[in-house]
Amino acid sequence: MENLHILQPLTTTTTAAAAAAYSRIILRLVLVLFIAIVSIWANYEESKGFAITVVNDAGDTPAGRRFSLLFLSNDKATRIVLKTSGFAEKILFPDDRHPKKPVDHVIVRLSSRNLTHPVVVSSVNKTEFVLHISPSVMEETNVEKAMILAVQRAMARVWLWDGQDGAPSSLLDGMVEYINILAGLAPVSDSGGLQLPESDTICWEDKDPVAVAHFLNYCEGLREGFIGRLNRGMQDQWNERTVDDALGLPSQQLCVSYYSTILQLPNSFNSTSPSLSRQVI
Ligand SMILES: *[C@@H]1O[C@H](CO)[C@@H](O)[C@H](O)[C@H]1NC(C)=O
Ligand SMILES: *[C@@H]1O[C@H](CO)[C@@H](O)[C@H](O)[C@H]1NC(C)=O
Ligand SMILES: *[C@@H]1O[C@H](CO)[C@@H](O)[C@H](O)[C@H]1NC(C)=O
Repeated sequence: MENLHILQPLTTTTTAAAAAAYSRIILRLVLVLFIAIVSIWANYEESKGFAITVVNDAGDTPAGRRFSLLFLSNDKATRIVLKTSGFAEKILFPDDRHPKKPVDHVIVRLSSRNLTHPVVVSSVNKTEFVLHISPSVMEETNVEKAMILAVQRAMARVWLWDGQDGAPSSLLDGMVEYINILAGLAPVSDSGGLQLPESDTICWEDKDPVAVAHFLNYCEGLREGFIGRLNRGMQDQWNERTVDDALGLPSQQLCVSYYSTILQLPNSFNSTSPSLSRQVI
């Protein structure tokens, strides 16, 4: 009987120990499963790109034939989209705190007639975009560079949020230009790049995207991560404080100091990102 009394608690202890061990195993299995699921999901997220379609609407014209030969038949258009997209994404979504804009499908379409700009972006819906390339691009002497520039411009625009249609186009154009300059693609201007903005109080309300780009670069230099924060902020409805919030101080203040700085300094675009010219093709 006494043995039973001794056994009794022993058995209980054993059961408890077994139960604890069992639950540890379960816990470990759950953890392993969880990690597996997370890594599968992460891989999926990482590889999840967007579909790319290339279309030649210019048909059997000189521009159409050039496009087919140089960009369509060899998949070069696709490679240019991927490279320029990657460049814009790195600048606009530097880390996980900047959730990517959903993009499912990019269509590169050589237009049948000349457009007002080398490239015009339209959207089919919120996740599908069309890059209308003007046939005039195919007539450039350095046709490959002209094509890369057009697609870089377009892909920057694709990845930019627009304050739910409320962001000023001067600011969006300036951000596109900022990315082009960092990519080493912007045409060199007479002034060597540095442009005095039209207004010394709201430097991003300027018709010249190059001037806006230089102001944005100045802001990024003073407040690192500004460009990414600004794009993230433009995911929401645009308001008067969107730029100030991304800066963490009144933009007007920076505009005034920029305006006075630029009148004194020689040109120097503050580029810290790798140049795209080294990366593409
Ligand atoms: C956008 O349009 C395409 C077809 O034009 C469709 O397949 C896709 O599901 C649409 N996406 C959204 C988010 O509506
Ligand atoms: C498009 O513009 C180019 C000059 O950039 C011109 O040579 C060409 O004839 C134009 N094409 C059409 C279809 O108007
Ligand atoms: C670039 O920006 C940094 C601040 O981030 C500044 O100290 C430096 O002087 C700038 N360089 C040029 C050439 O403007």
